[in-house]
Amino acid sequence: MLLHTDTAPPLQPAANPYQPYMARIVRIQKMLDDTRVFTLRFLDESMVRSFRHRPGQFVMLSIPGTGEAPISISSSPTRPEILELCVRRAGRMTSSLFRLSTNDVVGVRGPYGNGFPVDDIRGNHLLLAAGGLGMAPLRSLLWYALDNRHLFDGVILMYGSRSPADMLFRDEMLSLAGRDDVNCMLTVDADPSGAWTGRIGHLPSLFDHVTLEPARTYAAVCGPPVVYRYVLERLLAAGFSKDRILMSLERRMKCGIGKCGHCSVGYKYTCLQGPIFTYWDAINLPEMI
Ligand SMILES: Cc1cc2nc3c(=O)[nH]c(=O)nc-3n(C[C@H](O)[C@H](O)[C@H](O)COP(=O)(O)OP(=O)(O)OC[C@H]3O[C@@H](n4cnc5c(N)ncnc54)[C@H](O)[C@@H]3O)c2cc1C
Ligand code: FES
Repeated sequence: MLLHTDTAPPLQPAANPYQPYMARIVRIQKMLDDTRVFTLRFLDESMVRSFRHRPGQFVMLSIPGTGEAPISISSSPTRPEILELCVRRAGRMTSSLFRLSTNDVVGVRGPYGNGFPVDDIRGNHLLLAAGGLGMAPLRSLLWYALDNRHLFDGVILMYGSRSPADMLFRDEMLSLAGRDDVNCMLTVDADPSGAWTGRIGHLPSLFDHVTLEPARTYAAVCGPPVVYRYVLERLLAAGFSKDRILMSLERRMKCGIGKCGHCSVGYKYTCLQGPIFTYWDAINLPEMI
């Protein structure tokens, strides 16, 4: 299995750092009415071979004439040659993206941001706690850990969604429940269909069903604000130190490369020093959470 823990400098044309590389949409998977996974492959074969990212990094995705937006890479660096982006329709750029079809071409620049500190996590247990669309950046780390399983101690996945129908990558998640090298804990807030045989309850309730070793575990958390609030509460109560809690935090971004200042929080640019922060960083930066 491939290991890409090496530093991954952004691949940019030297002359113009804002110039995207063109990539073809090779697959579109509908996850929810407003959420799709776009699988991309660069047109330039040398880019296909040379593009490297770390779990937790993002790209600036663009549609000529429409705009650009930061989107996390959902695929793992252990599965190279394609990029999977899980996108929720929000505004101008993402609405245009949803009108495209397979074989259409989009622009990609990056990868940007720090990504998860996978070298620090190695040798420890890894706990991933995702709520809703928070699975998008965490999925890259999840598959990185499962494809390099020998590098990690226990791997625990906690994933909560509003209903079974809202669960992103549902078949993939359900298939993990049958594996013995990951403790896959899925929960839904409610089950209007009545067909869900798994747990019902909010994401933090999963902490009641697991024994954790906080001193030997890194926790990676991503989701809407309410997830941070209650999951952080549970992690701190379980005895996690603030520097072992890793969070993917989103800020409005324009350039993605530390030039425009749009994403600054305190003295940090989230496009450069983020989007992954420890809880320790986050509480020491005003307005970060
Ligand atoms: C590091 C990072 C990773 C991300 N990863 C993902 C991902 O994996 N998947 C995903 O779906 N999204 C992701 N996002 C969020 C995504 O970048 C935004 O939703 C983006 O704004 C979509 O672009 P758009 O042009 O479609 O929408 P926009 O036109 O930017 O509008 C998005 C929403 O923001 C509102 N809005 C627009 N401008 C402003 C403003 N100035 N102030 C306040 N509100 C405003 C709009 O009304 C709308 O509700 C990520 C963001 C960051 C920073
Ligand atoms: S997005 Fe421009 S400085 Fe971060």
